[in-house]
Amino acid sequence: PGERPENETEKGLRVADKGFLNTAVIQSRITYIDGEAGVLRYRGYPIEQLAGRSSHLECAYLLIYGSLPTRSQHNHFESEVLRHGVMHSDAQTFFRSFRYDAHPMSMLTSAFAMLGSYYPEANPSLQGQRLYTEGDRTSLENMDRQIYRIIGKATTLAAMAYRVRQGRDFVTPPTGLSYTGSFLYQMDHLGEENYAPNPVLEKALDVLFLIHADHELNASCTTVLQTASSLVDPYSAVAAGCASLYGPLHGGANEAVIRMLISIGKPENVPAFIEAVKRREKTLSGFGHRVYKTSDPRSFIVRKTADAVFAVTGKDELLETAMALHDAAMKDEYFIKRKLAPNVDFWSGLIYRAMGFPLDFFPVLFVVPRVVGWLAHWRQMMLQEGGVKIWRPRQIYTGSGKRDYMPVDERG
Ligand code: ACO
Repeated sequence: PGERPENETEKGLRVADKGFLNTAVIQSRITYIDGEAGVLRYRGYPIEQLAGRSSHLECAYLLIYGSLPTRSQHNHFESEVLRHGVMHSDAQTFFRSFRYDAHPMSMLTSAFAMLGSYYPEANPSLQGQRLYTEGDRTSLENMDRQIYRIIGKATTLAAMAYRVRQGRDFVTPPTGLSYTGSFLYQMDHLGEENYAPNPVLEKALDVLFLIHADHELNASCTTVLQTASSLVDPYSAVAAGCASLYGPLHGGANEAVIRMLISIGKPENVPAFIEAVKRREKTLSGFGHRVYKTSDPRSFIVRKTADAVFAVTGKDELLETAMALHDAAMKDEYFIKRKLAPNVDFWSGLIYRAMGFPLDFFPVLFVVPRVVGWLAHWRQMMLQEGGVKIWRPRQIYTGSGKRDYMPVDERG
């Protein structure tokens, strides 16, 4: 109804690109993906090489600063990240204020936003200036501190969200353990004197963290950059990214895969499930990807890691069903035609389940490593040549033309 707004179509070129299928919003030197060939590289290094030979924190340094660290750079980065794991004791009250059955992702999202309130030095509007400039040492050191804090405290906040749900006391991050070892300690520690994380599980978690560290402009990373483009502090931007990742089409998919496998039950029920997917009554969670049109290269690494974990924990009872589902989908014309193949989430949930993590904690295990990628992109954006331009997309308006207001009693 109403007249079309004048000249709406005469304001220059405006491209309608629903879901950003073809829009590049930034130039980036961080992560390369070739979705047709199934290639993923961090700063040029193939993910398979990194997963086999590197570690999560080494890759974090690589993603954020652009090159593999020397030994002393690595040691410095690791000790800063681990040192910043300790949370202010006030945070205990914050976590205890949630409902007893709050989803850990709700807690974690809120916790990142809460964290920002501790560090006004990271908030440009409170400082009244642009904070970050390439070549300015004070500004780069300020940025580094926020990076150490967010990566260091991600495990602590995640473990607090885990323990509060179980009515258990919080654990101060230990010294002398690796990043993933410290995380497992904070999750599992029940007061034993000689607690040590199982080395196979510690290594498996490190590999999973490493391959989840970045994946260029997925929904959550885009949200982080969209939010940060207003020059808000990185804690608020990370909280926004965390909220975006929570959805079942993104980081919630690893949780959705297990719920799907439980609902299918035995392998003999797989054909009926596949038919329901083809009738669009169900979604095959853990399959399909906006960028990959072949298997996600990370899915092979996860599959291999699963075998190492199952050797310790025993096989997950859902593994047979998962394998039957995978094999059936991979040779079905519906999935072949649409180039649908397993993504990283198809197998990762089975590992987390075997390691004893509760189902709704799985997306948290995605956020903890992914803060690395978000921070790498945030740093790159803050230091980009020419400064930050606020992200403000346009729309194609399809609503009413001008209308005159009518008092309520005169409306038909
Ligand atoms: N099950 C069944 N059909 C699917 C699936 C799936 N998992 N994924 C896509 N399709 C179908 C679509 O219905 C569509 O069919 P059509 O052309 O006949 O309408 C076609 O494949 C193309 O799919 P789109 O939805 O256009 O693909 P898009 O790039 O928009 O979505 C997404 C990608 C969201 C990942 C999608 O594949 C999906 O929902 N997968 C399941 C959820 C999942 O595993 N998410 C994790 C992604 S990876 C990550 O975040 C780590």
